[in-house]
Amino acid sequence: MLCWNCATTPERNEAVCSCCGADLAGEQDTCAEAPGQVLASDDTEGLAGFEDGSLGAYRILSKLGQGAMGTIWLAQADSRSPQVAIKVLRAGGANEEALRRFEREANALAQLVHPNVVPVHDFFFEQGFFCIVMEYLKGGSFQQFLGGTGTLSARRAMSVGMQVGRGLAVAAAAGVVHRDIKPGNLLLGSHGEVRIADFGIAKLSSSRTQLTHQGEFIGTPCYMPPEQWSDCRSVDQRSDLYALGCSLFHLLCGRPPFPGRTPLELMEEHLLVPAPDLRVLRPEISGDLAGVVRRLMAKDPEQRFQTGDALADELARLRNNDSRRFRLAAGC
Ligand SMILES: Nc1ncnc2c1ncn2[C@@H]1O[C@H](COP(=O)(O)OP(=O)(O)OP(=O)(O)O)[C@@H](O)[C@H]1O
Ligand SMILES: [Mg+2]
Repeated sequence: MLCWNCATTPERNEAVCSCCGADLAGEQDTCAEAPGQVLASDDTEGLAGFEDGSLGAYRILSKLGQGAMGTIWLAQADSRSPQVAIKVLRAGGANEEALRRFEREANALAQLVHPNVVPVHDFFFEQGFFCIVMEYLKGGSFQQFLGGTGTLSARRAMSVGMQVGRGLAVAAAAGVVHRDIKPGNLLLGSHGEVRIADFGIAKLSSSRTQLTHQGEFIGTPCYMPPEQWSDCRSVDQRSDLYALGCSLFHLLCGRPPFPGRTPLELMEEHLLVPAPDLRVLRPEISGDLAGVVRRLMAKDPEQRFQTGDALADELARLRNNDSRRFRLAAGC
């Protein structure tokens, strides 16, 4: 069972998610496997029909993780090829039109090449599953790295914001909005770089399941901008910047900005409650950085940074000022 809100795996019998505080009362009392667990012979969840342990041309090695929309498997084409991560999404009763759309959109994702975006190497449809083959990033996600409640230093958080801002800007230029920016979708590369995972997956998933119908939403409630709650088709890169603001708040404070424990409570908070000041939890953070995070979380998209590049430029300026102050104080 995964938390309905942040898609982490709660402890057995936990009534409240220890990562985001969501109310889990009444949820099923079973746990998904820990990331990286070796594939057991009866482990067919999300993989029914692949009894021979292969997915397309790839041999499955282990399960890396499970999200709300699919399962991630570690796999390899052959022993000389690099290991890859394959996201497997249940396609339901996908018709010809859905398959064409999947191909079109996965193709667009494969064109999205940037140092801050997880590269998509390949994609295919097999036995009722959409499969997206990505680069395998050993560092995992920030959600895993911080264990839900850990925190980053201000400097590291600024670097994360800059890198994600650059990645979002390039995606926006290619007409791609993420729709589900959150610590679980920010992965750590082998050189410490930050790479955004799951570009376009929220949209692919919604077109598969028709989630955009009345009363449903796509995205993750803790980080979702006001405009995405009312109409998830009316989003643009400023919506991703709002979700990035909520994610940076989480990375700096060890929890998401709003305490709501149900989707309804969170919707009200994102729509109506002013974003909290992160300095209540981290008083040592500068007013400038707290101001950047607050601006990202503005209810009105017009009041936010308008592009990922504008955010990255501002964070670069703050970091340079910080470095200059540090050098002056040290007398260099
Ligand atoms: N390319 C990758 N390389 C290494 N690990 C990955 C990769 N992609 C995902 N993972 C791991 O698998 C976990 C689950 O990913 P997944 O995208 O299925 O779920 P999620 O991002 O937590 O939630 P959602 O389904 O809402 O996206 C991630 O938290 C991450 O640790
Ligand atoms: Mg993900």
